[in-house]
Amino acid sequence: MTSHAQFPPASTTDYLTLDVVTKRYGGKAVVKGVSLSVARGEVLTILGPSGCGKTTTLKMIAGFLEPDDGSVSVDGARVDKLSSHQRGAAMVFQNYALFPHMTVRRNVAFGLRMQRKPAAEIAREVDAMLARVRLSEFAERYPRELSGGQQQRVALARALIIRPKILLLDEPFSSLDAKLRKQLRSEFLEIHRNFGITSVFVTHDLEEAFAISDRVAVMNTGVLEQFGSPTEIFSRPRTRFVADFVGHKNIFTGEAVASADGGSVLAADGLSIRLPAAASGEVDVSIPVHRVRVSRTALDTGNAFRGDVETVAYLGPVVQTTVLVGATRIESYLSASPELETLRSGDKVEIGWDVEDAVVIPGAGPA
Ligand SMILES: Nc1ncnc2c1ncn2[C@@H]1O[C@H](COP(=O)(O)OP(=O)(O)O)[C@@H](O)[C@H]1O
Ligand SMILES: [Mg+2]
Repeated sequence: MTSHAQFPPASTTDYLTLDVVTKRYGGKAVVKGVSLSVARGEVLTILGPSGCGKTTTLKMIAGFLEPDDGSVSVDGARVDKLSSHQRGAAMVFQNYALFPHMTVRRNVAFGLRMQRKPAAEIAREVDAMLARVRLSEFAERYPRELSGGQQQRVALARALIIRPKILLLDEPFSSLDAKLRKQLRSEFLEIHRNFGITSVFVTHDLEEAFAISDRVAVMNTGVLEQFGSPTEIFSRPRTRFVADFVGHKNIFTGEAVASADGGSVLAADGLSIRLPAAASGEVDVSIPVHRVRVSRTALDTGNAFRGDVETVAYLGPVVQTTVLVGATRIESYLSASPELETLRSGDKVEIGWDVEDAVVIPGAGPA
């Protein structure tokens, strides 16, 4: 299987492209035939669990590692043999990697000093950059005198000062607390737009990936599982791994048999579930938690079952429930309503969903 066969060919607007890139360490491939691309000015996020090959992929884009197979192109030209600087890339690391013995000003000036620019010009550009990332008042401080979020902004400023065309960020916010992460997420997006750069962002955090990205590449054990927009990844997961990773809960695996109406019926966990498309053989099907309906009265949905409420969590705007249909647990996550708010554990309910809401997970292989 070549994973790139699953995806549409790169569009003409693509700026940065990886074409069937493989990286091996001691004969073992840790990145296996990954193909992905990002358009100028977009944010691409590489999402996946620890050890799946995100950093290795990013380093090949950055020019810190050379692929064993495949190619990296920028603006239509191969850049595999070019340095980071030559390909216009700058990288921001998870641990900031600031120079501890240098002030903020000197940290940010570093790239320009390496370019041997005149001191007056460096001072002017550094002042302008510090103002743009709102760090002017911290210019004379040392990294240890700054919060984690401020240090990360210094790291961003230091990367941006050389005016990169491509900004690469390796889990830049993962050592910060949740609130600060959200704040820096929007600061990053603002900087990304203002500087007109193309960004490749690495994270293992689903919400962060979905919130900032135009395109998401989901990786698992060196393989690209799916490449698409956040909505495509969430609403049409191509593999069981992606469905689980993006948080699908109600996944049924069973034997499907085509039915006369053009759809099919899946036998799974003792339930007969009507599916919108013709399917046969073993399939995985997901019912998104926000599509499931729960009611004390009969439902008119294409799939409906009698069940017992197991748990109810009232979360303000939404109500989260689990309902047992026989031994099968079905989760829902629904807008609060007067009826749902009165549900209690042990209540008899009807649970169901429309036939079209079932998502058939195609599995690995050509589309
Ligand atoms: N220099 C190296 N030598 C050998 N194996 C490596 C090296 N760098 C990374 N790996 C292995 O490659 C795999 C992917 O690593 P990495 O790209 O850092 O993953 P991620 O960033 O997704 O956590 C891991 O199994 C890791 O142990
Ligand atoms: Mg990593």
